[in-house]
Amino acid sequence: MKGKKRLAEIIILCMGMYVLCACSKQKVPVSDKIYVGITCYDQSDTFLSELLVCFKEELKILNQKGIETTMTVRNADRSQRVQNDQVKELINAGCNVLCVNLVDRADPSEIIDVAKEHDVPIIFFNREPVAEDMKQWDKLYYVGADAKQSGVLQGELAVEMIQKNSQIDHNKDGKIQYVVLEGEAGHQDAIIRTENAVDTLNQKGIELEKLSYQIANWNRAQAQNRMEQILGQYKNRVELVLANNDDMALGAMDAYKKLNYTEAVLPVFIGIDGTDMGLKAVEDSMMAGTVYNDKEGQARAIAELSAALVTGEEDKIEFSKGNYIYLPYSKVTKENVHEYLN
Ligand code: BGC
Ligand code: CA
Repeated sequence: MKGKKRLAEIIILCMGMYVLCACSKQKVPVSDKIYVGITCYDQSDTFLSELLVCFKEELKILNQKGIETTMTVRNADRSQRVQNDQVKELINAGCNVLCVNLVDRADPSEIIDVAKEHDVPIIFFNREPVAEDMKQWDKLYYVGADAKQSGVLQGELAVEMIQKNSQIDHNKDGKIQYVVLEGEAGHQDAIIRTENAVDTLNQKGIELEKLSYQIANWNRAQAQNRMEQILGQYKNRVELVLANNDDMALGAMDAYKKLNYTEAVLPVFIGIDGTDMGLKAVEDSMMAGTVYNDKEGQARAIAELSAALVTGEEDKIEFSKGNYIYLPYSKVTKENVHEYLN
């Protein structure tokens, strides 16, 4: 009798332990409210300001679905030190997920340390940390796009245009005289875009003559300035302008306008992003084409991942690899630009 009772006790104990284990395996939602803290490297950056507009829209959609969200946005104004402080402030204010657009993509350690200490996950976006740093903690994520793909697509756009229109080779020397306007040194989207655009042209058998590469830091005014210098040196010899983003392509166009160049000598301008102004320039046939940087898709991915991380539903998210989500780029020309204009 005693033995039977003992056996029953052991069975009950085991069952209890099983239930306990099963419970601890289940993901317990930490919170059902999403407090997003965002910090941007520079809110006056055209692409990022448009991305933020999309992100606000995505949070509204989540709210409509009954997921309560609030967000606080901070502008780091190109200072990593300021951004580090902002992250601390956002955590102290109770944010339960951080979305960080790093100022210096090679320097996220301080941010990662504080986030880890308070167990607040980080979604980096648009400025990709180096792979080593992404391994510092398992609650680090990245949402962006594949830089190489944007370069290849930009190169393809140029090839298609050059093959279709022999007039682009103004001086009929069988070569395309080109210049590149580059984004910030050290940004994953600068050098990789340039290399892949030029490689694609070379691979497709287009003969090129490089006139000049200039860094204009994603900025329209700087690009105008650089282009004015290039024009001072090369006059009307430029046949193709490859810009790492639309703002710099627009800046190059501003230079031609300012210096009163006639339409007949204008080169082909190709950008990347498909910003509002960029798309407008394609629609107006001022810019030959651009490569769409899917800000709507990226904003949706950041919003959905933010919610999933807070509610413990990360397994519902589709990753491109590991903790990375890459949205695809696409080519925009006059023919399909209407699909991209709201
Ligand atoms: C965009 C640029 C932007 C930069 C900022 C790039 O992906 O193409 O327009 O200035 O990100 O980090
Ligand atoms: Ca030529």
